[in-house]
Amino acid sequence: MSEIIIRNADFSDIPGILELVRIIGRYVSFEDELFSWMTLDPQAVVIAESIQLKQIVGACSGMAYGPERGFMGLYMVREEYRGRRIGTQLWNKAMKHLEGRNIGVRGLESMFSEYRDKRGFAHQPDYVIGYYKCSESSLILPKLNLDSFGIVSLMGKGVWPRKPEMVTTARDLEHNLAQNASECALENTKISYLDTVENIIVQEWKDSMKFGRSVENLLTEVVNYDRLLHGYDRSFIVAQTLSWRSCKTKIAIINEKVVGYLCLRPTVVGFWMISPFYADSEDIAELLLFSLLSNVNFSEITDGIQIRVPDKNPYCMKLIQKYGFRDENLPISTGYNKTCIEIDVSKFYSFHSTICCSE
Ligand SMILES: CC(C)(COP(=O)(O)OP(=O)(O)OC[C@H]1O[C@@H](n2cnc3c(N)ncnc32)[C@H](O)[C@@H]1OP(=O)(O)O)[C@@H](O)C(=O)NCCC(=O)NCCS
Repeated sequence: MSEIIIRNADFSDIPGILELVRIIGRYVSFEDELFSWMTLDPQAVVIAESIQLKQIVGACSGMAYGPERGFMGLYMVREEYRGRRIGTQLWNKAMKHLEGRNIGVRGLESMFSEYRDKRGFAHQPDYVIGYYKCSESSLILPKLNLDSFGIVSLMGKGVWPRKPEMVTTARDLEHNLAQNASECALENTKISYLDTVENIIVQEWKDSMKFGRSVENLLTEVVNYDRLLHGYDRSFIVAQTLSWRSCKTKIAIINEKVVGYLCLRPTVVGFWMISPFYADSEDIAELLLFSLLSNVNFSEITDGIQIRVPDKNPYCMKLIQKYGFRDENLPISTGYNKTCIEIDVSKFYSFHSTICCSE
């Protein structure tokens, strides 16, 4: 077998990582999603590369969110390379990057002992994430009136610089960020979340008074809402997610206040994913979901729509069953190595977590 090196990934590796993600069958929103996470933490993604074949054969990420927390993800090795300790080397390098932090990881419930018992991710919240899916044939749409409700519909234009010369510019950005301590990189990116506004198209805007139809103001309200929900600042990744190519966002506004939002975005494996989806109440959640699904174009979304729900949110379970989502029987457990992060699952209707993992 060819010689393998383990190294940090840069932006030019994104197409190769996506190829690996497709082969393994993981859920990523194309180049955009990797680009955003790698901008947030330029040292997070580690890859295994075959020197002779110039092919990425494995990956793992240790994503730092500020100085105190991090999340493991993207852990995969091509089947024909497994069992040669490549995974272990990738894992160790990504973990080393997060040293000292409270680190989270997610994995299939049936495999979770690998993390809990062997690697010390013993602090587990009581919820399990369930994947549910609906298709054009399973979808059930009730009759609802949205008139008294403020909903803003947005569409992302994309953040990945498609042209090669722009990838070079992006690489310079990454280099500059990597020169600083990772906290400093996070500091820089946090400040610039409003830069993504130009990548967001407003499709429909009801209830405009407070926001004066300013996308900047609206985005600020959304990231503030998100911060209250999570207990820490996710402004950069939230603004980026809304900007990802083809991402459809619905934001619920009552009395000029953001009370929930959801995103529907494509994945490299075909189906689309509602992720994230948060709402202050059962009714707001239903109106957001209804407003999204009543406008879905199933000639574009041929492989269905997935949602990733906490099993401990009874409103959510009731809602998705009402709309015809079916259980895919892939329960996902979460664990932390130091302290369990508690969240109010009654407001969580779909997790943001995908491949690079986050709450
Ligand atoms: C998990 C995976 C990356 C390991 O890669 P690898 O190169 O074969 O790993 P190594 O040869 O270094 O060693 C395998 C170790 O990983 C463990 N392992 C196997 N499957 C695992 C899994 N799904 N999650 C975590 N650890 C796993 C093995 O028990 C072994 O542990 P040991 O060190 O105690 O012997 C690889 O099996 C893979 O890509 N699986 C499919 C994708 C996947 O399930 N990823 C985890 C998502 S949560």
